Amino acid sequence: MTSSLIITIDGPAGVGKSTVARMLAKKLGGIFLDTGATYRAVTVAAMQQGTDLQDLQAILDVMDRTTFDFRHEGDVLKVFVDGEDETQTIRQQHITENVKYVAGKQPLRSRLVELQKKFASQFDKVVTEGRDQGTVVFPKAQFKFFLTADSKERTRRRHEELKAAGTEMDFDTLHEQMSQRDYYDESRTVSPLKPAPDAIHIDTTDLDAEGVVNRMLEVINKRHG
Ligand code: DC
Repeated sequence: MTSSLIITIDGPAGVGKSTVARMLAKKLGGIFLDTGATYRAVTVAAMQQGTDLQDLQAILDVMDRTTFDFRHEGDVLKVFVDGEDETQTIRQQHITENVKYVAGKQPLRSRLVELQKKFASQFDKVVTEGRDQGTVVFPKAQFKFFLTADSKERTRRRHEELKAAGTEMDFDTLHEQMSQRDYYDESRTVSPLKPAPDAIHIDTTDLDAEGVVNRMLEVINKRHG
C-alpha cells in the first residue's frame, strides 16, 4: 500500500513533536511514526553488543544481525530489539547521549530512512516526526510542519517528562545537554535539523499540545476540506 496522506513534523528536542504527532494521527484516523525511536533502537542494539560507536562497519554489522520491530499498541509505539521489548530502554539517558553516533553516519541514516519509508507505506494516513522528515524522507508530504519553542521551555517540558517517568534531573544540566544535542543536530553535515522550504512554522512556546494540534488541523482542513 502507499499512503494517501503524509504529514511531517520536524523540530528540536523537547518541542512536543511526539505528543502532537500522536494526537494529530488519532484525530485523522491515521498512525504516528516516531523516527527518533529508530535511531535510538540501533543505539541500544550497538551498545548491548559492546560495539565501538565510532566504528561505522561495526554498527552496520549490528544492523545486519539484529531484528528491529516497531509495533503500535494502542497509543504507544513499542520497540523490540531481537524480540526483546526495549520501549523503555531507548529513552534512557545513556542512549540519548550516544544516539548522535548513529544519527551522524550517512550509511546508517540511509538504512533507517528505508525502514521508515517501508513502515509508513503500510498505512493510509501517516503523521511522522523527527528532524529530516520534511526535507529528506518525505519531501513530497502533503503537509509539513516545523515546530519551535524557547529552549528553556523545551527543557522544562523534557524535565517534566523525565520526572513523570521516574528520572529526576538537574534542570541546568538537562538544559546544557539539550542545547548540545540541538547544536549537534543542526550543524551535522548529514540531514541536519532544518525546516523544509515549504514547511509551516509553529512556535509552541505558549501553546499546549491541544493548541498546536488545532493550529495544524486548521491548516489541513483549509487545504484538504
Ligand atoms: O526525537 P528523539 O529525541 O527521540 O531523537 C533522538 C535523536 O535521533 C536526536 O538527537 C537526533 C536523531 N534523529 C535524527 O537524526 N533524525 C530523525 N529523523 C529523528 C531523530
